[in-house]
Amino acid sequence: MTPERVKGQELSSRHLLGLEGMPGEEISHILDTADALKEILDRPIKKVPTLRGVTVVNLFFEPSTRTRLSFELAEKRLSADLMNFSKTGSSVSKGETLLDTAQNIEAMRIDVVVVRHQCPGVPGFLADRLNSVIINAGDGAHEHPTQALLDMLTLRQKFGDIKGLKVAIVGDIAHSRVALSNIYGLKALGAEVMLCGPPTLMPRGAESLPIKVCHDIDEAISWADALNVLRLQLERQKSGFLPSLREYHMTFGITMKRLEKAAEMPLIMHPGPMNRGVEIESAVADSGHSVVLDQVTNGVAVRMAVLVLLSAPEVKLT
Ligand code: CP
Repeated sequence: MTPERVKGQELSSRHLLGLEGMPGEEISHILDTADALKEILDRPIKKVPTLRGVTVVNLFFEPSTRTRLSFELAEKRLSADLMNFSKTGSSVSKGETLLDTAQNIEAMRIDVVVVRHQCPGVPGFLADRLNSVIINAGDGAHEHPTQALLDMLTLRQKFGDIKGLKVAIVGDIAHSRVALSNIYGLKALGAEVMLCGPPTLMPRGAESLPIKVCHDIDEAISWADALNVLRLQLERQKSGFLPSLREYHMTFGITMKRLEKAAEMPLIMHPGPMNRGVEIESAVADSGHSVVLDQVTNGVAVRMAVLVLLSAPEVKLT
């Protein structure tokens, strides 16, 4: 699908702070746009002039491989000018505040800020104080909207439609921004969502959400069309959530032995980075049922779509 025109400013917000409250039609529009733009990645010359003249800063206060590099690549493929900021080596180490850092960068005349930060709410904080378009690249345990969008694009490519699809999100839900954005997005598109993990890694109030909650991984595997296996966020956990990583692997780890017991093998997803041998066995991660690398490819297309829809006026894709 290669539509001649992709209209900018069709989303109800000028920022992408999260998927909470985003209507299904807007999510589908982003996914349709990503589908159209994905073809550019397979061209011999992988570049279009769509964002020529637009300047983007990638403001990363937390480590990242996939999100940072795929935003950077998306910006380059669209001919935007870009700057990369990471906390290490910046004046943050001299005591400069987040807002001073952001305002100083904006004073260099930038148009878009892609921000990752360990504190929930930072993208919204910047959206209230800067003139630039703000895109959330992950804020603490709050939201990671572009990750959920690329997960949904992958599901749509594999299953055709998300409505009615059964998706189990497995593992450390309490500390996961990926889980929350997926719940909002999948529910908006009509999927059935199950959360599966130990009670200590479930968010407070999970039972009251319009989703299934289960603590038996075998039940989740036999119920789901797709499993989104989450990383144990060891850097965000205080001690006492789990007896040991070995215990977690034995109780909730996704292994071939477990999957083979199901009548139908579910699709295996993981946002990365993976703790191999903890939440997922290597034999599963590297199997034909796993789409973890398709997710990464789709991440570039989704980030191109978000950048185009938020920062380009009406454009013609050529
Ligand atoms: N999935 C994800 O956000 O990965 P990174 O932390 O490497 O960006």
